[in-house]
Amino acid sequence: TEVDVDPASYDAGEHDSFMHKEMLEQPAAAERILRGRLDERFGTAHLGGLNMDARETREIRRVKILGCGSAYYVGQMGASLIEDLARIPADAEAASEFRYRNPIIEHDTLYVAVSQSGETIDTLLAVQEIRRKGGRVIGLVNVVGSAVARECDGGIYLHAGPEVAVASTKALTNMFVGFALLALQLGRVRDLSIADGQRLIAGLTRLPGQIEEILAGEDALAEMATGLAGAESLFFVGRVRGFPVAREGAQKFKEISYRHAEAYQTSELKHGPLALISTEVPTVAIVPDDELTDRNIAALHEIAARRGPLVVVTHAGVDLGDLDVRRIDVPRNERELDPILLTIPLQVLAYHAALTLGHDIDKPRNLAKSVTVE
Ligand code: G6P
Repeated sequence: TEVDVDPASYDAGEHDSFMHKEMLEQPAAAERILRGRLDERFGTAHLGGLNMDARETREIRRVKILGCGSAYYVGQMGASLIEDLARIPADAEAASEFRYRNPIIEHDTLYVAVSQSGETIDTLLAVQEIRRKGGRVIGLVNVVGSAVARECDGGIYLHAGPEVAVASTKALTNMFVGFALLALQLGRVRDLSIADGQRLIAGLTRLPGQIEEILAGEDALAEMATGLAGAESLFFVGRVRGFPVAREGAQKFKEISYRHAEAYQTSELKHGPLALISTEVPTVAIVPDDELTDRNIAALHEIAARRGPLVVVTHAGVDLGDLDVRRIDVPRNERELDPILLTIPLQVLAYHAALTLGHDIDKPRNLAKSVTVE
């Protein structure tokens, strides 16, 4: 059935919940996963635990990422990082589905299992299926010595520290950083330049401070969350790099506020869900300053024309014109690293919506931290 970490063995301290404590621990957790792994001289990452030499690393032709829940969504963010930085075709799939479609296992594919607990049965069985067929699997795992970590050929430990709340925050952030390190290393044995590698390293080094900056804006986010908590149904929209961010934001909202939160590609709104937009259905839109900003803003106008309330997660300087929105600006970093900074305010929104509604934040109904039986 389920395995739960015994909260009695930890202490939430001055926080009302472990989720709040763990959210605020993110800057320190992100620093821990980076420690000792950045090589500024060569603009790359040191990941000794992968157990692959440069020659083997260069032979990888494809990357397939497997995880469940939030680990699956961050896997989609990871696939983008790998495609952007290493130009290796990469995609993520729900580990719970993978095994049931008799997957084709290729010797030049690198399989990546992502799991906070390392005990999720669906993820573990996917790893076993791949290895049984002779595939190479690495793990992005938080719990040291866990089942997934033991079964993999190598991996990157997340060093997020113990995570008690069902809704993952610091482990998820470190999964993203872990993917950035992996993408950097895969890229630097291929065509990623030393200057681009160093640019990414500088960006990664700025991340912990920027996460702290977002968390310092908690009061303003709490006020917006109170507004959103009143809605029965919400949309979270984003596109390309912003879409997994929207999926993760909707997941958090569902898990702890019990509101119907649906993630959609902003570009697909006009092909269906616009019919649902009304004054009663708010949209949280992910609109980073990137090559898609203008198209994203055009979609916001479509929503505003149907009088849908809007919360926009964006960057300072993005001109939203005369749109009537609640705006959340996150700090700028390298574009590849935007997804994690765009995700942090969504954690805070979900947390405060659940708090307003009086829910048990750490142990939402019907969910377990780690699902160890199929
Ligand atoms: C459960 C939790 C999710 C979590 C998923 C994966 O379903 O409710 O919040 O994302 O498991 O957990 P893992 O430990 O494998 O990261």
